[in-house]
Amino acid sequence: MKPLLWALYLLGILVPRGLGYDGSLTQQRQEVVDEAASPWRSLETYNYNKYHPVGEIYQWMNQISEKYKEVVTQHCLGMTYENQPMNYLKISQPSHKTKKIIWMDCGIHAREWISPAFCQWFVKEILQNYKNNRRISRFFGNLDFYVLPVLNIDGYNYTWMTDRLWRKSRSSHNNGTCFGTDLNRNFNASWCSIGASKNCQDLTFCGTGPVSEPETKAVSRFIESKKENILCYLTIHSYGQLILIPYGYTKKKSSNYEKLIQVGQKAANALKAKHGTKYRVGSSADILYASSGSSRDWAQDIGIPFSYTFELRDQGTYGFVLPEDQIQPTCEETMAAVLSVLDNVYEKYWHSNCAGKVTSTSVVLGLLMSFVSLLYPI
Ligand SMILES: *[C@@H]1O[C@H](CO)[C@@H](O)[C@H](O)[C@H]1NC(C)=O
Ligand SMILES: *[C@@H]1O[C@H](CO)[C@@H](O)[C@H](O)[C@H]1NC(C)=O
Ligand SMILES: *[C@@H]1O[C@H](CO)[C@@H](O)[C@H](O)[C@H]1NC(C)=O
Ligand SMILES: [Zn+2]
Repeated sequence: MKPLLWALYLLGILVPRGLGYDGSLTQQRQEVVDEAASPWRSLETYNYNKYHPVGEIYQWMNQISEKYKEVVTQHCLGMTYENQPMNYLKISQPSHKTKKIIWMDCGIHAREWISPAFCQWFVKEILQNYKNNRRISRFFGNLDFYVLPVLNIDGYNYTWMTDRLWRKSRSSHNNGTCFGTDLNRNFNASWCSIGASKNCQDLTFCGTGPVSEPETKAVSRFIESKKENILCYLTIHSYGQLILIPYGYTKKKSSNYEKLIQVGQKAANALKAKHGTKYRVGSSADILYASSGSSRDWAQDIGIPFSYTFELRDQGTYGFVLPEDQIQPTCEETMAAVLSVLDNVYEKYWHSNCAGKVTSTSVVLGLLMSFVSLLYPI
């Protein structure tokens, strides 16, 4: 190419990407890192009805924290096995008082793509509404939101690059003969006692010890350090249409079982009111399957008052490969459920005049679902 053409060519690449935004150094550095990122330039055109590769999600997080800098900050929780930063968003109205915390993580299982899509939707909804929507704005006086959109970044990237149905992390085991730990079997909650495997070839490989993986270490360390203030631990999975409470590692009821069921049932009702989607509510051991080492059970064990796993759509028709035209209705109904949980948590701590009157619904055992789930763990 002639020098002049070269110059034009370079300008065409560099101007819209490097300078089109705000020209800040961090922005440019990120743009260079995300070479494969798609060319949208403003948050206004980000498509929440599509699944996004990890580079686009990193870029989205940068843009969100730039656009809403009065309430959003981005932080790094730690690094993954493949040395990628585990970034989370803290959404907080600046104030001098110590606020309580709502934690949400998505994408611990790589193939459950609707989960990171929901974390992004949740952040968008909170930020678009916190100024004008009373229901959301009242949370801001007393609560901060911490959102980790993709916990298992290595695995998620692998589902985009190589194997759409990959579940685990990408750590190497047995001298590089097999890969990946099931991060939701690696937490320090009755580790590898039931519903998990010590064989690294298996889908539910629990790792070489409790919290052996860098990703679970990073999350555990952080949650542990803030546990006095965390009211709610929410972890988003698919599929099955379930709201799961502790425990998975035992059939024994947790001390707050009735309350968790009650709040979970209200959330399921709010969810159903949106598009008619039916969810079941119960402990993992009761309505799904036995599993040890889950983050939900661990959060319960260290004393976090409301710990839930959401298993989003569907019930096996598309399974992990939920079509993009279902992202919006799934996120809308899940948002209704999460807001219902938050309302109840909020009332309990700041307006405890609102005693629950929903009867705890007895839980029906989903035999077929349980059986299917043994073959395709979710
Ligand atoms: C995703 O995987 C590709 C191919 O293995 C790799 O080149 C890239 O660095 C990875 N990106 C992230 C963010 O992990
Ligand atoms: C691991 O692999 C290396 C290289 O292939 C080999 O030299 C070594 O003996 C292996 N170690 C074990 C414990 O199998
Ligand atoms: C796991 O939890 C137990 C207490 O339940 C504690 O004694 C142990 O040190 C923890 N292990 C790790 C690796 O964090
Ligand atoms: Zn899952």
